[in-house]
Amino acid sequence: MKPILYVVRALPGARWEPLEPLFDIRGNAQRPPADWLSEASGATAVAATYLDRIDGPALDRLPGLRHVASYGVGVNHLDLQACKARGVIVTNTPGVLANATADMTMALLLAAARRVAEGDRTIRRGGWTENDPSFHLGIEVTGKTLGIVGMGQIGQAVARRAQGFDLALLYTSPRDMAVPGARRVELPELLGASDFVVLCCPLTPETRGLVNRERIALMKQGAVLVNTARGPVVDDGALAAALRGGRLAAAGLDVFPDEPRVPSPYLGLENVVLTPHLGSGTRETRAAMARLVTEDLLRVGRGEPPKHRVV
Ligand code: DGY
Repeated sequence: MKPILYVVRALPGARWEPLEPLFDIRGNAQRPPADWLSEASGATAVAATYLDRIDGPALDRLPGLRHVASYGVGVNHLDLQACKARGVIVTNTPGVLANATADMTMALLLAAARRVAEGDRTIRRGGWTENDPSFHLGIEVTGKTLGIVGMGQIGQAVARRAQGFDLALLYTSPRDMAVPGARRVELPELLGASDFVVLCCPLTPETRGLVNRERIALMKQGAVLVNTARGPVVDDGALAAALRGGRLAAAGLDVFPDEPRVPSPYLGLENVVLTPHLGSGTRETRAAMARLVTEDLLRVGRGEPPKHRVV
């Protein structure tokens, strides 16, 4: 009998054939059953996404589990300590999604600052009736100051793109990342000096609730916030209030605390651009992520060390 590999949800572009000699592959549905853990209970390996929480109680229901191959770079949906304590290997997919996510970050920044989605909505509801020079004015992006919170691979890819817009660059990071043209500062300085703030940090105990009422109060009047990191980095109530009251000009949000639900206060605000967690969502990048998942499943399945081990 081959060990079971449970694929929680179908991964676009994934090629499972090379794994068939090693594993009995199960799951792999477009939408997983609500209680996928029951189906996966005999699994030795699980291919999971950021939507699939695997914590201590979940691990108790997967007693034979040896490997979680996580599709994505963020691992906040996994209890790493619990995995480690049980000897479960965790792998992820770094190095392939920074460009797509940085593109999305710039797309949201431009869309929020230049009111792209709002303009689209105006046209569709028949609201473009004259060419008034003061109609739908936005914020010029070129030459302003961009603050990048988190200077990992995604932050660095944003910095490269930002240079094409002649943006002055500030960033926060636990260590100096020697990014050309960018200056590392403490968060309060970044918030106070940036016209645009983009969140590119992982979700950790330190970054949970990082953009709260107090920190928004430090931001420039009329600044723009973009979040392509993780929803819980932002306090949604505080951000919605700042957008409603005009303290912040606009926001571009790709991530939310309880996806696919979007906090309702945002839905009525014209100055928020909302996207459904599309940071890594290109055909090319999702296929590359799937390739890294299957390659490490193959390695661990053969008893070799994985390439992208988290714990
Ligand atoms: C990641 O890699 O963490 C992304 O958010 C998944 O799309």
